[in-house]
Amino acid sequence: MAKVAREQWSSKLGFILAAAGSAVGLGNIWKFPYVAGENGGAAFILLYLLCIAIIAMPVLVAEILIGRTTQRNPVGAFKQLSGKPFWVAVGGMGILAGFMILSFYAVVSGWSLGYIVEAIAGKFYDFNEIGSSGAHFTNLTQSVVWNVGYFAAFMALTMLIVYYGVQNGIERGSKIMMPLLFILLIILMIRGLTLDGAERGIDFLFNPDWSVITGKTVLVALGQAFFTLSLGMGAMLTYGSYMSKKDNIPISALDIIILDTLVALISGVVIFTAVFATGENPNVGPGLIFHTLPIVFTKMPGGIFFAVLFFILLSIAALTSAISLLEVVVAYFVDDKNWSRHKAVIVFGFFTFLLGIPSALSFNVLADFKIFGLTFFGLMDYISSNILLPLGGLFISIFVGWVWGFNKAVPNLKQGAEKLFDNYPWMLTLWKIFIRYFAPVLIFLVLLNALGLI
Ligand code: PHE
Repeated sequence: MAKVAREQWSSKLGFILAAAGSAVGLGNIWKFPYVAGENGGAAFILLYLLCIAIIAMPVLVAEILIGRTTQRNPVGAFKQLSGKPFWVAVGGMGILAGFMILSFYAVVSGWSLGYIVEAIAGKFYDFNEIGSSGAHFTNLTQSVVWNVGYFAAFMALTMLIVYYGVQNGIERGSKIMMPLLFILLIILMIRGLTLDGAERGIDFLFNPDWSVITGKTVLVALGQAFFTLSLGMGAMLTYGSYMSKKDNIPISALDIIILDTLVALISGVVIFTAVFATGENPNVGPGLIFHTLPIVFTKMPGGIFFAVLFFILLSIAALTSAISLLEVVVAYFVDDKNWSRHKAVIVFGFFTFLLGIPSALSFNVLADFKIFGLTFFGLMDYISSNILLPLGGLFISIFVGWVWGFNKAVPNLKQGAEKLFDNYPWMLTLWKIFIRYFAPVLIFLVLLNALGLI
């Protein structure tokens, strides 16, 4: 059967926005603040920034490069470049991680959808102090119908967009919504900074206390760096596979990182000025933004309007990330198994929904069901973000640095970036050193250390 030509992004900006859409999501606005809150604030954030600069940046370039060179999904890409079962399995591990992440990611995204309705219904007017807002969140998540219902609705939205394919679905949505989200965050940041007690939030964010850092914290910072950049499981590889050879990979990677990091830091300012101004505890975990933000909105002129807008945009940011997670699985079945896009979307959307149900129940009927001290939701998050993604990053850097060979990788990397590397040849040298030595060695040490082996 003749294959239909593979889709591509319609423009250079299309790729950057879609990839930034994948990167910017709940990881920045929901997860980053609460994980930073649980891990002591500023010292954790510095570690996270360090992981982004010296590990994630070179791995991001490597991932996009593998995707663009092979024009395949993660499994197909490793098959084409190496063919060894081990490397094909690394691609498979990425697809598995994507599937696991989407299953709990869509549960939290469902909360965001649900909060649009709460905001419209004027529920936030009742919140004058943190207790009532936190209690409201707990009540909602204790309802199985609320939790599973919005989760299902969010999965349906994700499937709908992936169903329509790369250009019409993913790219179109990202182009409109991402800039709007950015503007709204800046408005919220200004509101946060003018709250009484905002300085304590800023202090928590930017004044490090190194005594709270352990080997485990370093792993969480690394996991967060991978999670927030959609790295280590082939999402960026898959998006790179729709990129034109005329586009500049290193500059695109830098744009994505700058955007993603800015959104995380701005979200941190928004949330922590609010946390300290309202007397919330920074380490309440996954409910953090749902506890604090409604109160900030009640204290703002036009608060309800901004609240509705915020949760709409948060849901969209989650959606542009969720579609990249589903797209990885779908691309594999379309490229390598000759499935139709429509069939792959329906089958895997449904399986993801099934796998996500125990995560949705982790806040109610399964709340006391713990494995290694974590709920099912917590376990899915821990295994995928802190183990599978760094492991994926480790293998990707070893593959590009040692197996594929720079003699093949570099000419591909140079396509579209000729001028950059002619003017700044040291950039290429730096990338080679980082991808070959720094990234794999550091990831390996962090993993060993967190396991207690060193
Ligand atoms: N980067 C996304 C976020 O920050 C989550 C994600 C992880 C998306 C892995 C795709 C792959 O919300």
